[in-house]
Amino acid sequence: MNRIPHAAEHDLPAAEPEAAQHLLARLEAQEATIGVVGLGYVGLPLAVEYAGAGFDTIGIELDEQRICRLNAGENYVDDVDDSAVCALVEDGPLRIEGTFERGADVDVFFVCVPTPVTDTKDPDLTYVESAADSIAEHLRPGRLVVLKSTTYPGTTEDVVLPRLQDAAEDRGLAVGQDYFLAYSPERIDPGNASYETGDIPVVTGAVTEPGTTVAETAMRMISADVHVVSNPKVAEMEKLLENIFRSVNVALVNELAQLCDRTGGVSMWEVIDAASTKPFGFMPFYPGPGLGGHCIPIDPHFLSWMARKYDFETSFITLAARVNEGMPYYAVEAIVEAIAQQPVRLSDAEVLILGVAYKGNVSDTRHSPAERVIRLLKEKEVENVHYCDPHVPSYSVKLENGETETIPSVELTPEALQRCNVAVVVTAHDDYDAEAIARHAPHIVDTRNALSDIDDPDLRQKITLLGGGKQSNGDPW
Ligand SMILES: NC(=O)c1ccc[n+]([C@@H]2O[C@H](COP(=O)([O-])OP(=O)(O)OC[C@H]3O[C@@H](n4cnc5c(N)ncnc54)[C@H](O)[C@@H]3O)[C@@H](O)[C@H]2O)c1
Repeated sequence: MNRIPHAAEHDLPAAEPEAAQHLLARLEAQEATIGVVGLGYVGLPLAVEYAGAGFDTIGIELDEQRICRLNAGENYVDDVDDSAVCALVEDGPLRIEGTFERGADVDVFFVCVPTPVTDTKDPDLTYVESAADSIAEHLRPGRLVVLKSTTYPGTTEDVVLPRLQDAAEDRGLAVGQDYFLAYSPERIDPGNASYETGDIPVVTGAVTEPGTTVAETAMRMISADVHVVSNPKVAEMEKLLENIFRSVNVALVNELAQLCDRTGGVSMWEVIDAASTKPFGFMPFYPGPGLGGHCIPIDPHFLSWMARKYDFETSFITLAARVNEGMPYYAVEAIVEAIAQQPVRLSDAEVLILGVAYKGNVSDTRHSPAERVIRLLKEKEVENVHYCDPHVPSYSVKLENGETETIPSVELTPEALQRCNVAVVVTAHDDYDAEAIARHAPHIVDTRNALSDIDDPDLRQKITLLGGGKQSNGDPW
């Protein structure tokens, strides 16, 4: 077993094991090396935050392209400052590696790898397992491992810990005594300029009491607000609650938006605006063409999967998924209806999708509802589908027959808008010129209320607002 050098002269609680005291001292003295495993939307901002706070930081990434881009000082994550990445890589505190070769130098590992679900919506933890195995090879006394990937309660203790333990026991290391393990969910909100990684309160729950102390200290190095919970399962469940809360509330307004359209005369958007004037007990969520991103459409399924093992049905999650997954179909019905008002066959019609990123002002297209909308249009023989997204130069859509079609983004010119039969706002990017869209497109299906500022009655007449209460077939309310 490696010997731990004595902690530097710091005012540390005497009760902490020597390994914890050593790590605490290294953290407080900014001598600890931080290792971030997986440099994606979560890992890269985190690595930049620690490197920017003065810590030697090693980013470990498997994707060759991402490694090359970072080593060339090029950033690929929307919310990260390009010049910060460039300076940190050039000046040295942030080193990018393709292997765990320097794993032995790392004091604190953050695991930020993907946690997808399988086709049957079961958790796929292969990335987490592989990262844990690699870290286990480099586990030394005085190390802290923090899992940040979103997952079901129990993953840290039942999946990560046994993998570390297998290797650690051979070296005579015990968790909570010689090395430490915690879970801390990531809470970034891509595209939200008001909150960056360092501004968002952090939640953490560790295995063992000393683990809690070192995890809290490690996180305090970049965040002033660290909320400690009693164990990793609470922190894992807390993250899922955040995501399920969003999914359920979005489903609620999506369902009521459809009711408003069915009955006519009441806009769900106006209803939400009015409800938002209540200063307590209400939080606005908005209808849309379906959920997207790597989190909200995926993460609730982790809990449903876990609940099934206990003969428990998570009905809210199931119901919310059903409503939200129906929204692209609902949007496509509105598009087809809009085409039907024009003297053109579906097979000759041209649809211009505005926005394929899963949310406004980001370039991330993972699980974007745009893919389902385009695929459904093609199934209805609307072959002529183009898109414009200033954040996404080209977009690959998986078609029903299993083939992938890659489409380039078109420029949003008056001609492109005039040429289409229907323009569909799928993503509300700030770059879009609402006035130009309303003026030049023959008809617009607005799934995000992105054209809310258009008052001209002639232009408004061309807009089908999803949830706007204008599609009534019978007597309006
Ligand atoms: N994107 C978000 O907004 C967000 C927000 C909160 C939580 N999360 C969660 O954070 C986790 C990561 O999400 P992301 O969006 O950053 O994913 P991502 O796909 O953008 O990044 C993950 C990176 O990990 C790399 N990787 C995979 N296995 C590796 C290994 N063994 N060693 C080194 N690198 C490895 C991949 O190549 C990839 O670049 C997921 O669990 C996700 O649910 C994401």
